[in-house]
Amino acid sequence: MRVPLRSLKKKNIREESKQKDSLTPNSVDPSSDILQPIIEMQDIKKIYKTHAGEFPALKGVSARFYPGQFVSIIGKSGSGKSTLLNMITGIDRPTSGKILIDGTYLQDLTESQFSEWRGRNLGIVFQFFQLLPMLSLLENTILPMDFCEMYSQPERETRARSLLKMVGLEDFTDQLPSSVSSGQEQCAAIARALANDPPIIVADEPTGNLDSKTAELVLQLIDNLVKQGKTVVVVTHDEAVAQRASRTLVICDGELVDEEISKVIPTISHRSMLNISHQAIQVVKQPGEVFFADTDTLPGLLILLDGELEIHNKADTKLAKKKTGTIMTSKNIRDHLQIGHKLVAGKHKPVRLKLVSEEDFQNSVASSRSLQRLVNSLNNPSDPSSQGSN
Ligand SMILES: Nc1ncnc2c1ncn2[C@@H]1O[C@H](COP(=O)(O)OP(=O)(O)OP(=O)(O)O)[C@@H](O)[C@H]1O
Ligand SMILES: [Mg+2]
Repeated sequence: MRVPLRSLKKKNIREESKQKDSLTPNSVDPSSDILQPIIEMQDIKKIYKTHAGEFPALKGVSARFYPGQFVSIIGKSGSGKSTLLNMITGIDRPTSGKILIDGTYLQDLTESQFSEWRGRNLGIVFQFFQLLPMLSLLENTILPMDFCEMYSQPERETRARSLLKMVGLEDFTDQLPSSVSSGQEQCAAIARALANDPPIIVADEPTGNLDSKTAELVLQLIDNLVKQGKTVVVVTHDEAVAQRASRTLVICDGELVDEEISKVIPTISHRSMLNISHQAIQVVKQPGEVFFADTDTLPGLLILLDGELEIHNKADTKLAKKKTGTIMTSKNIRDHLQIGHKLVAGKHKPVRLKLVSEEDFQNSVASSRSLQRLVNSLNNPSDPSSQGSN
């Protein structure tokens, strides 16, 4: 049975997506105004029922991924990475919330529609490869095309051979998975994932079981897929994978950290990033606006996300310019104000900030050594003991 899934309810979806814009704190990609996301998660919750009671593995995840992006999702063991990926692949279903992929709401599909849809639209790569052991690498690669009835019979074999060649396995096509190395198994799994030329590739720890040399080979394959315009979502513990991605999302205890916060303060613990994500309030200042006239109500933390913040002296001469990504503590701000300096929004465009109140920030700092180190390095920039990794 073939279903024209891609056109399903596109208009409704677009309208609903527009309404959601202001409700999805993690959808911070600046391209969101012009591009339609290829994957959109709307307030996804997943509760597992265990003997010990209910366990919330995902606590309301919202995010948008755009065509051609290479997104990595990082987080500690047990943070919810695989659960999140399983929601996108439909291997598991959310307890609540919606997932929209390339115009299709996944919950609108029956199981059989879903299997066929997945076969055509998603290429999935697992940590432990999951090739069928009794089939050769060639047969494993042909299987998804057979399942979705893609391409003619002779084309399927030609295509499988060329995919296996692309991943360096042209001399191993007739081997069983058990007779090749684990790196070769993973390369074959990537060839299989590409069999139906899906627009989206998702991978759960694709290098987790490989030595660093083979992992590099797999990463180069992923880079090439991104260059071809595929959307790639990879869950990983591996810094090397995350560094190659165009976006990195951090998941902590079933929640996504605010992407701008993890980008600007990557050195603090994931738990601290999440606390700050909960506490931070966005503020926009218009060009030329002066802020923090009153030293009693300074924020504990200021993060400059967009625009330029200028430091002016009493005569209103510009002394310095702070760029996007600048972080200031209340002490940093107070030091300026006490000598008569002013903080002024740059005159070219509005300034967008995230502010954490002094009380909230002090509570977070009290329980986080990584935040204590950050504050120390911001308050004492010349103290060498305050520098270094967190
Ligand atoms: N089927 C299940 N039933 C009950 N709890 C589960 C189930 N699957 C996962 N969990 C729990 O949900 C949480 C998230 O699990 P998940 O597998 O998504 O973590 P992860 O980030 O992928 O970890 P890892 O890096 O170790 O693969 C964990 O606490 C896990 O124990
Ligand atoms: Mg996992």
